[in-house]
Amino acid sequence: MKIAVLPGDGIGPEVTREALRVLDALDLGIEREEALVGGAAYHAKGHPLPPETLALAEASDGILFGAVGDPTCDALERHLRPEQAILGLRKALTLFANLRPAKVFAGLEDHSALRPEVAGAIDLLIVRELNGDVYFGEKGFRTTPSGEREGWDMMSYSESEVRRIAHAGFRAAQGRNKRLCSVDKANVLETSQLWRDVVIEVSAQYPDVALEHMYVDNAAMQLVKNPGQFDVVVTGNLFGDILSDLASMCVGSIGMLASASLGERQTAHGTFGLYEPIHGSAPDIAGKGLANPMATILSLAMLLRHSLGLAEAADRVEAAVARTLADGVLGRDLGGTAGTTEIGDAVLARL
Ligand code: NAD
Ligand code: IPM
Ligand code: MN
Repeated sequence: MKIAVLPGDGIGPEVTREALRVLDALDLGIEREEALVGGAAYHAKGHPLPPETLALAEASDGILFGAVGDPTCDALERHLRPEQAILGLRKALTLFANLRPAKVFAGLEDHSALRPEVAGAIDLLIVRELNGDVYFGEKGFRTTPSGEREGWDMMSYSESEVRRIAHAGFRAAQGRNKRLCSVDKANVLETSQLWRDVVIEVSAQYPDVALEHMYVDNAAMQLVKNPGQFDVVVTGNLFGDILSDLASMCVGSIGMLASASLGERQTAHGTFGLYEPIHGSAPDIAGKGLANPMATILSLAMLLRHSLGLAEAADRVEAAVARTLADGVLGRDLGGTAGTTEIGDAVLARL
């Protein structure tokens, strides 16, 4: 078994380092190879996703990804910006189903942005579509005949794209509490009307799952008002991006939310995938040893479980994270004082 490690930019390498220490301690004999991605790859090789990085990712059983994003690259042409690396990996590897679990760990109820009795009920999974939507439509910029600047981004979904993510959502719900909430903006967008129609068609194959539809603006409100009502939420690329950052603060911090991006390709022991925290490169705290590595450590656990078939090792990692938090070892993002390495040490000690 071999994993590709792509630390990236900003706090990416800092949080990835802690996850790799956890992997080393598990002593599973997993081979790993590191490569440049994002701004780091652009500065060294002139491209955020060099062909050798993509080739390494493709040849692996799973990818552990840190984060990309570099303020010095913000003025580059779009195809050279660090963010194109993660978008390119998701698209090139057909990783269309992004699973973003959000639950409150014991001891963190008081650290949520919500009241403890509201936060304590959160145990949900956002299934975000990752290969379509306004992210991958035609885009452009022009100066109109009247001399005004104009930008555009085409939002679209084909029915096959909606169908495959709908199946992913229903299957995830079958493995949990059998409730699926499909989030869209069908009252305004044609893209969303098709989304809703196709989700309803697919639902006929899952009579055991209770399906509900919600407009995205209401979903954002409901996630704050009563997040305990959600089991699995399935939604498009843009809405899923926004709602998952929102959900992260409901459980305490964006530094806690892990993710798995999966497609249909199988490995020897599971499903090929890319695993990353939902947060970015956090330039404001990069290099200071302040980043919370838990989201990346939990992403490693998802990699072990989904791509490598090592459920027991994944359980051990998750249990060590839970004990660390229950013991009150918290980063600044959760109101504590522990730094990145200190949190890693604490997880290792409890593994
Ligand atoms: P961000 O997630 O990097 O940071 C948002 C805020 O959360 C910051 O205040 C940051 O300090 C804090 N934060 C994030 N992760 C944290 C952690 N592990 N521990 C403690 N605090 C944490 O989002 P942003 O500031 O909007 O974006 C910064 C860069 O990252 C941009 O270039 C953006 O495009 C990129 N980005 C990349 C990814 C990715 O690689 N998948 C995801 C999101 C943003
Ligand atoms: C995420 C990020 C990315 C996204 C960016 C960096 C392209 O915000 O992984 O959530 O929008 O998908
Ligand atoms: Mn995001």
